[in-house]
Amino acid sequence: MTSVNDPSKLRSQRWFGPDDLRSFGHRSRFKGMGIDDQDFENKPIIGVLNTWSEMNTCHSHFRERVQEVKRGVLQAGGFPVEIPVMSLGEMLMKPTTMLYRNLLAMETEEVLRCHPIDAAVLMGGCDKTVPAMLMGAISADIPSVFLPAGPMLNAHWRDTTLGSGTDAWKYWAERCAGNLCDEEWNEIENCIARSAGTCMTMGTASTMACIAEALGMTLPGASSIPAVVAEHCRLALGTGRLAVELAWTNRKPSRLLTAGSFVNAMITQLAIGGSTNAIVHLIAMAGRAGLKVTLDDFDAWSRQVPVLANIRPSGKYLMEDFHKAGGLRGLWIGLQGLLDTSAKLVDGRTLADSICQARVIDPDVIRTPSNPIVEQGGTCVLRGNLAPNGCVIKASASTTRLLQHRGPAVVFENYPDLKKRIHDPDLPVTADSVLVLKDAGPLGAPGFPEWGMLPIPEKLLKAGVRDMVRISDARMSGTSYGTCVLHVSPESRLGGPLAWVQTGDIIELDVPARRISLLVSEEKLAERKALWRPAPEHASRGYTWLYTKHVTQADRGCDFDFLEGGDYGKEPDIF
Ligand code: FES
Repeated sequence: MTSVNDPSKLRSQRWFGPDDLRSFGHRSRFKGMGIDDQDFENKPIIGVLNTWSEMNTCHSHFRERVQEVKRGVLQAGGFPVEIPVMSLGEMLMKPTTMLYRNLLAMETEEVLRCHPIDAAVLMGGCDKTVPAMLMGAISADIPSVFLPAGPMLNAHWRDTTLGSGTDAWKYWAERCAGNLCDEEWNEIENCIARSAGTCMTMGTASTMACIAEALGMTLPGASSIPAVVAEHCRLALGTGRLAVELAWTNRKPSRLLTAGSFVNAMITQLAIGGSTNAIVHLIAMAGRAGLKVTLDDFDAWSRQVPVLANIRPSGKYLMEDFHKAGGLRGLWIGLQGLLDTSAKLVDGRTLADSICQARVIDPDVIRTPSNPIVEQGGTCVLRGNLAPNGCVIKASASTTRLLQHRGPAVVFENYPDLKKRIHDPDLPVTADSVLVLKDAGPLGAPGFPEWGMLPIPEKLLKAGVRDMVRISDARMSGTSYGTCVLHVSPESRLGGPLAWVQTGDIIELDVPARRISLLVSEEKLAERKALWRPAPEHASRGYTWLYTKHVTQADRGCDFDFLEGGDYGKEPDIF
């Protein structure tokens, strides 16, 4: 009878098992690294994909944390092999990490497929590393568990807490308005990033960590554990141990991820007041699993799901508070009627099992559906003649009175134009204007940068204005806030209607009706469309060329068209 832990069934045995010259080569070169038979013979080989880099400020603890992952693998009888993969550090990579999400996804997929790996630990955290590694692992369909980097500790300045991104924007506006001196600004710079880890607001990194947990791809409770506490070390140990179990049980993403898993992820994104970026990533991840998630799915759930996490930018607290208050499992208690609690988790249990262990310690941080931050519609999908294929707005981080607004457009043709003119004292802008940025979508910039929270013109800041309606085909950081309409699709560089908007046109935003309208006659729009000409291509070679030829629009997840779909590809031949 075949035992559950049958080494002959391990994938890595194709490399190491046969008594032939090729396997001799594989084994002897391993031994050349000082490894002996007892290290790896008949043991699962666990690939630990590490996105550590000195250019990635959020993963600076990964060089140490990987040791705990390896210790966990060894404890459980596996053999850990650390493999560095591309590190997408949000702060320092230009023009935007989103340009490279699909490159890391491809690297993850191919690294997993081409090596003798039985299961993998994916070490990521900073925004795009999460979807990229999950997309790659789903496509490779090799048993995998995700280890989130964890958020930074809460930051403090004088008598207040500071949240990544959110408070940088807030205090920058005060500085531009003349309300903050150089010394105060410098103090904030010195303390807003208090430790290793990802942004500790509900930015894209925290949102995607929650989504990874909601998909069942992490250990339960993993998404909010701060990066530098002992609990995170133990999470890494447990993740390493689990990877060995995954190898023996061959628990692959295709055996875990169902339509219900993605429903749970959508509900989670909405209930945490998560980053709008997650919508793009979830559509892409579902596509890799051969499933379909659409903007309309998001909007349908948005009409039912309350925002329960009182975390900046939609709320008041930070991720450390969220963790102490009960974390994601605590938040799910109030959503059990909506979630698919039968969805499987990577540790072999179900979402229901995970929620069983949950408690809410602080009901102001994790609200109940009867006392939500926003009753429903925290993130909304809009359509109209300005965005026929849809666009999104994070209503929970917007100014309520601006959610129904009509005003004249002030148009910027691209980001350099915005930078040049936005603070010009002669800019014809009032608090009722609608700021419009073109050429900032997946193809436009290129790479779909986070330019969607257009700056408020300095003269309006000085007059006390802190929010305006802003519209673009760009994304926005998950830490950002304001009445910003994002991801307009099709984008202006493709000749979408955003390309035809001119300064002075009247734009109407009606979020409750899910409408965005350019109030210009069809005849006039047809004239402008006839005059529109595509901009020159960004690149004639290299990765950027590949990207611009194959990236899809925001409503399709911005994956490469040739990577979509649940066809997992064949195992490599071993000659
Ligand atoms: Fe890395 Fe925000 S910059 S998570």
